[in-house]
Amino acid sequence: MSEPSGHLATRPSPCVRLPRLLTSLRSRPSTWLALAAAGLALALALRSSFKASPAPVLPLSRGVEAKIASELSDEGELVGDFPPLDELDELDDRDRLWPPDLDKPLCTPKIYVYDLPRELRLPDSTVSQCRWSAYNSELLLYQVLADPPSETLPVPPNHPHRTLYTSDPSEADFFLVPLFPACYLFDCWVKAGWTKTERCDVDASYVQPVMQHVREAFPYWNASSGADHLIFHPMDYVDGYYTETSRAAMNASSYLVTVGDLRPKPYGQHFRFYRDIVIPSSTHLLNSYYINPMDYLNEEGRPLAQLRGTQTPNRKLDILPTYPEIFLPSPTPPLKGFFPPLLSSLRRFSRLSSPSATVERDIFAIFRGGVGEPTDGEAYSLRIRSLFFPSASGNLSSSPYSSSIHHGFASLPGFDIAPSSDNLDYARRLARSKFGLAPPGYTLDTTRVYEYLAFGVVPVFVGSGPHAGQVMPFANDVDWDAFSVFVPRERAHETPRILREMSEEEYERKRRVVWEVGRKVVLEGREGNAWKLIARQLCRMKRIGLTPGPEIANN
Ligand SMILES: *[C@@H]1O[C@H](CO)[C@@H](O)[C@H](O)[C@H]1NC(C)=O
Ligand SMILES: *[C@@H]1O[C@H](CO)[C@@H](O)[C@H](O)[C@H]1NC(C)=O
Ligand SMILES: *[C@@H]1O[C@H](CO)[C@@H](O)[C@H](O)[C@H]1NC(C)=O
Repeated sequence: MSEPSGHLATRPSPCVRLPRLLTSLRSRPSTWLALAAAGLALALALRSSFKASPAPVLPLSRGVEAKIASELSDEGELVGDFPPLDELDELDDRDRLWPPDLDKPLCTPKIYVYDLPRELRLPDSTVSQCRWSAYNSELLLYQVLADPPSETLPVPPNHPHRTLYTSDPSEADFFLVPLFPACYLFDCWVKAGWTKTERCDVDASYVQPVMQHVREAFPYWNASSGADHLIFHPMDYVDGYYTETSRAAMNASSYLVTVGDLRPKPYGQHFRFYRDIVIPSSTHLLNSYYINPMDYLNEEGRPLAQLRGTQTPNRKLDILPTYPEIFLPSPTPPLKGFFPPLLSSLRRFSRLSSPSATVERDIFAIFRGGVGEPTDGEAYSLRIRSLFFPSASGNLSSSPYSSSIHHGFASLPGFDIAPSSDNLDYARRLARSKFGLAPPGYTLDTTRVYEYLAFGVVPVFVGSGPHAGQVMPFANDVDWDAFSVFVPRERAHETPRILREMSEEEYERKRRVVWEVGRKVVLEGREGNAWKLIARQLCRMKRIGLTPGPEIANN
């Protein structure tokens, strides 16, 4: 960019400058000093250039030049810190920067949800069983958009059911097919005693009739050849479970998938980068047991000394399946008894600390999970989890399947690593953990990441994540780097040291972004954030809301 010409006009020309300098030398001793300093700087610059080391070439003000010169060693190398610079001013237009403000939608696409005839819907028993599976995400996203329970859950004005959902297909930009093939297969596998090669006729009995109905009973599929239709595929191999005929029937639509994998085939062969949208997985803790992180943490994401809300070990039995709540604490259960106000004050009085008192996160790093089966070999977690548990034999055929003898991360101070935990115990520990380890499982993605985000735990991707070929949910709008740590597989063994070396300041920065932004990626129903983030991707797909822009010069 050129300087405004006004600045040039006020600068004296070279022929007026020399007499002015001479006058100034006569009247002001400070000018002599300035000349001497300039001479010294010149000598230093010449000296370092004789040594053929790079001399500072930027026009520097005198003070800074002297400071830099003093920090050049005899060999002309910079030692010590660079002189500090001020932060850049904030931009007037925040939208010039990425990541975007997620509260500002790119556009508001309208989504129609097909209403399938009874005989094409899954039986209620299959649906309710699926709420306990990892494939619950397809049910939950459907429900948030089409069918929020308004009585148990007051729907806020910008809830996606209000803003994105339409019951009028003629005004729709996109069409959601309520096909839940993962739930169908889950039910099939439960009945078949976990024989995962079993298919229970999913193609001819379920996928194909639904797709035929969508094609024939409405004009919308044909109108776009299916390109503006959305279908859930939250299983590891996406549509890889179905026959060629079923796959061809769904192929033209966009899939909502939980595994975004960019590795070469066979690992990444099902993910269609140009067409599919990666969604978060549902998790047992949040989406089946409805454990509420806000019962464990305060509004800033700091662990409460005293848990609040209604959590009980039997929560899954005594709460109606509604929605996971991750933004508001559970309501306090009404007190039953003779004189509730007295009981209430007694209860308050009996507490040792105030209900809002917080404690420090005193677990340095947490991990709950296994190491796979003896037959898995490197297929499970790329062998990364073999570092987590003590390896006494150094035998690749026995747990933890490590070729070396080592004590494992589990024995390090502050590392809370175990194969499993009871739900409430896990929730309590998550709330008190700084870092959460996220190595791959059979795939790069694992559901525990969303539990970390919901509980304000900074995720540590070890050999997984955006720098290991994993496409993260909503990566076009959410800066995963800002709230996560990445350790490449070849440095996995250095994970404890890498985490220890992070400054408290940087940890706190990441923790705050996890709490402010990371949480918005988690599947929940009250805000419906996942649909708001899906909508941003839909806006881009159809370029909705685009206006002819001003011409932008290229440099
Ligand atoms: C859409 O096209 C298919 C085959 O191309 C046809 O069988 C179907 O009837 C069409 N749907 C509608 C509503 O016309
Ligand atoms: C899916 O569509 C692509 C073109 O978009 C085509 O090349 C591919 O063969 C189709 N796959 C199936 C299974 O129909
Ligand atoms: C390694 O472990 C397997 C299974 O536990 C065992 O059969 C084998 O003998 C062990 N090999 C060695 C060298 O210890």
